[in-house]
Amino acid sequence: MGVVRNLRQVSADDAGVDIAFRADVHAGLSQDQKAIPARWFYDATGSALFEDITALPEYYPTRSETDLLTRHAADIAAAIGPARAVVELGSGSSTKTPLLLDAIDPAAYVPVDISGDFLRDSAEALAERFPRLAIYPVEADFTQRVELPREICALPKLGFFPGSTIGNMVARSAIDLLRNWRAALGDGSLMLIGIDRIKDIGILETAYDDPAGVTAAFNLNLLERINRELGGDIAVENFSHRAVWDDVHARIEMHLVAACEMDFTIDGHAYHMAKGETIHSENSHKYGPRDANLLLRAGGWTPIATWDDAEPAFALILAKATEFRSAP
Ligand code: AVI
Repeated sequence: MGVVRNLRQVSADDAGVDIAFRADVHAGLSQDQKAIPARWFYDATGSALFEDITALPEYYPTRSETDLLTRHAADIAAAIGPARAVVELGSGSSTKTPLLLDAIDPAAYVPVDISGDFLRDSAEALAERFPRLAIYPVEADFTQRVELPREICALPKLGFFPGSTIGNMVARSAIDLLRNWRAALGDGSLMLIGIDRIKDIGILETAYDDPAGVTAAFNLNLLERINRELGGDIAVENFSHRAVWDDVHARIEMHLVAACEMDFTIDGHAYHMAKGETIHSENSHKYGPRDANLLLRAGGWTPIATWDDAEPAFALILAKATEFRSAP
């Protein structure tokens, strides 16, 4: 079967720039605490840098999750069963996907990712590895409403949301996303989701501020991307990367810190930053077992199994679509 057809659901302007990117940058830089949504990290350069991050010794989530998928493949497969359409949210380069696809014998695979080039390359690589599997890549922002390929309509579905990407959303957005996907995947569907656990602050902060500076480059690329795509003139060399644990929100926050007072323009709009002022560029929330289960339940998913014996701690949770019924 291989790659059947690409579905593109991204709106770009005449210059090929994602309309939502432009809007988010201007809205975010006009706030008191400047902030840009983390999903805009992932242009081609940002996606490649993220792949480099996943290979860093300090960045444990990918290792821990891969380890869980490998060691518990048989149990995970038994809990999921065969012949489902696997819909992966934010597939990226899909390095963990083969482990799951190998284990569960799916009927189809639908990677959904905002980074079109990455999506196509990884879909091609998977098609070579699984030549009999029907693959329907969808280039779309999985945090928005996504139209699924009609070919998988009648199949039972498994949402696959690895990497603890849910942690990049504040609770309200995470719940909205889970509810949207509960509706899109339908009754009888399952969701296998990666959740990063709260742990030692030193381990967390080093994972997001590695000594080789790869995460710093990933963070700073957001400014380069603004310059490249939105005609910005930001002096990127005057910014530095900061990653700190916020215990109240149970999250790592990443910021871009201005080293000096500066002015810049984007699309002809003027912006000013004081020395030490920051642009908040990412949250990475971590969850204890009860918090994670509550989040899933609030999003319309009932947890049915958890695999979480990885070190550093990370969890894979399998949840089923909660049935709609009246209950006290
Ligand atoms: C994609 N996401 C789950 C990563 C994380 O761990 O929050 C993004 C990342 N940011 C810095 N390093 C990795």
